[in-house]
Amino acid sequence: MRRFLVAGNWKMNTNRASGQDLAAALAENAPAAEDGVEILVCPPHPYLTTIADKVSGSGVQVGAQDVYFEAGGAFTGEVAVDMLKDVGCEYVIIGHSERRHVIGETDEIINRKVKAAIAGGVKVILCVGELLSDREGGNTESVLDAQMSGGLADISEQDAKELVIAYEPVWAIGTGVTASPEQAESAHEHLRKWVANRYNSTFSDQIRILYGGSVKADNAETLMGQANVDGALVGGASLKPELFVPIIDAARKLASA
Ligand code: 13P
Repeated sequence: MRRFLVAGNWKMNTNRASGQDLAAALAENAPAAEDGVEILVCPPHPYLTTIADKVSGSGVQVGAQDVYFEAGGAFTGEVAVDMLKDVGCEYVIIGHSERRHVIGETDEIINRKVKAAIAGGVKVILCVGELLSDREGGNTESVLDAQMSGGLADISEQDAKELVIAYEPVWAIGTGVTASPEQAESAHEHLRKWVANRYNSTFSDQIRILYGGSVKADNAETLMGQANVDGALVGGASLKPELFVPIIDAARKLASA
């Protein structure tokens, strides 16, 4: 069975003190690694070390929200994979829709980042998702296919072993409008079939596909209860323990069912 992954993407939020408080509360809630649920927080880069220290030894892992594909050198403002590893990051989010649509990242850049992270031994959460106009135009699946083909170009099954996909429909991010369980399941099923076609069905059975986009305590269990939904990538509701812990609890409940 695939292990649930519940990840908090803090985006450009928190400060040192509030991030520490949040991390401490989550570590207290998950004092040790859990069989059924993996828990991850992705703070802003400046706080990675502090947060990694806070959750050290608990069941909460730390990831980054982005990385650069070069190993080091004259790339002002960028952060390398080895640096993330050095401060204790297990995961890195790559290709988030805010990076695609606000910062202008292309599939080619995303692919280079995915390759660099894999080569450096940091697990990747690759985000894909359609705009509202894509969905309304009936293009959801072709957009997902293009993002998957672009992001995973020249990446072997062996290299993709630790990969996690996050389906985040752009129209559901930060809007309070969540994809219906049917919409989420249909996209996840499509993505899993894409993986089966590109790689094979053994691998597509193993790969985890998270849902992201206005996940809250009251919709988490239904969304994660879908056959092809293996966890959640949570934005706004990951910023307060009283909002995030119930989402983790929903995964715990499903994992023990
Ligand atoms: P919200 O949960 O705030 O909609 O954000 C989702 C997201 O973008 C997680 O990466």
